[in-house]
Amino acid sequence: MGKPLSFNLLPLFFHCLLLLVSASPIQDEQSNIISRFQLYLQINTSQPSPDYHKSTQFLLSQSLSLSLESQVLEFVHRKPIVLLKWPGSDPSLPSILLNSHTDVVPSEHSKWLHPPFGSHIDEQGNIFARGSQDMKCVGMQYLEAVRKLKSSGFHPKRTLYISFVPDEEIGGFAGAQKLASSDVFKDMNVGIVLDEGLASPNENYRLFYGERAAWMLVIKSSGAPGHGAKLYDNSAMENLFMSIESIRRFRASQFDLVKAGVKAEGEVISFNMAFLKSGTPSPTGFVMNLQPSEAEAGFDIRIPPMANLESLEKRIAEEWAPASRNMTFEFRGKGILHDDLGRPLVTATDSSNPWWTLLEEAIKQANGKIGKPEIFPASTDARSFRLLGLPAIGFSPMANTPILLHDHNEFLNQAEYLKGIDVYESIIRAYTSYTSPGRHGDSRDEL
Ligand SMILES: *[C@@H]1O[C@H](CO)[C@@H](O)[C@H](O)[C@H]1NC(C)=O
Ligand SMILES: *[C@@H]1O[C@H](CO)[C@@H](O)[C@H](O)[C@H]1NC(C)=O
Ligand SMILES: [Zn+2]
Repeated sequence: MGKPLSFNLLPLFFHCLLLLVSASPIQDEQSNIISRFQLYLQINTSQPSPDYHKSTQFLLSQSLSLSLESQVLEFVHRKPIVLLKWPGSDPSLPSILLNSHTDVVPSEHSKWLHPPFGSHIDEQGNIFARGSQDMKCVGMQYLEAVRKLKSSGFHPKRTLYISFVPDEEIGGFAGAQKLASSDVFKDMNVGIVLDEGLASPNENYRLFYGERAAWMLVIKSSGAPGHGAKLYDNSAMENLFMSIESIRRFRASQFDLVKAGVKAEGEVISFNMAFLKSGTPSPTGFVMNLQPSEAEAGFDIRIPPMANLESLEKRIAEEWAPASRNMTFEFRGKGILHDDLGRPLVTATDSSNPWWTLLEEAIKQANGKIGKPEIFPASTDARSFRLLGLPAIGFSPMANTPILLHDHNEFLNQAEYLKGIDVYESIIRAYTSYTSPGRHGDSRDEL
């Protein structure tokens, strides 16, 4: 108890400080908002053993103060999903789901200027904490936006759900995936999902309409072993290195497109070597004068939804792991890129998707600027919802902010955080007020 208690006094201290500096009610309210954000940031939900008990208690207390309906779903033991509901006046309309994950990635404390769970605020107003960008900010902004809307007397037509899911950082199996495939989810009749995006170093917010899938490829080669002094063809090492050289050229060609500004990071296929394994072990390391008979390499490949998968698979089978060179390959994980009908898993970003248009307008109405829609370079929980055929958009309102997710000294400026709340207020207002011209009750009519 000793440690968390001393952490918890910190926001109180800043709160008092701000009270002394100014007594205006608006600034009071802003410091309360920041204090609540700090409390959430101070809960250690770091993988591999997140304190979900504490985060759940905190979120339920927030829900209570907002008079929202709440339930805790535990599809997997000790992996709670906190699901909050603001019922709309017309329950026949498909609902809105705002999703965020409660876990954060580990941090190397010694490399940080301020403790990763201290939520220290520096002179510039930067709030330092693991999760300040990814993505406790977004989860709290949803709640603060609801608080503002409620106090302004707003009543939603559509039902608004806010979900706080565990374990996104380790694949989302116990969290978003379980939620998306549950009967509870079916009953929610969700029409649109918002989930996380990325910070933007410039003034434009970033919106993500799809994401790259991960393929974990292992290629293996074999060949005749031989004396380390002998030059001969078709050794396992030579066979593997021919592939590695070719893969590296492909990697460079993709990276060149990004460097030249022709394509965004999420639009190219990335290849990165994860391991390289060979050699004949000896008591002191490896036998040095022997060319081994087996070698293998593992690659983390990230593929955009619009990539030509047939041509990629062909290259793997014919160029990078050809049987003719005594090579084999296998996938240790192969992310899905298409739905059951073979269509890329992307959400439409034009007028065919009213949720897209509404989102753009709502952000602009809150004085936010928007960049070109992007493909998320890595994976998020949004994938679980797109797989169901639902539109899902990734958005974390952080402009003029360096991208520090998973990095040391992750921070978010408090002014930027407050601005994001206004943006969500505008989005929630627009989304929950929207009634499609067509029939009610069938989300497919609206897509
Ligand atoms: C947070 O929890 C992780 C375990 O998941 C632990 O390694 C780390 O030391 C904790 N950090 C603090 C500040 O207590
Ligand atoms: C395949 O492996 C066999 C047996 O190790 C070897 O004799 C042959 O030269 C290899 N062929 C190629 C193309 O690498
Ligand atoms: Zn995240």
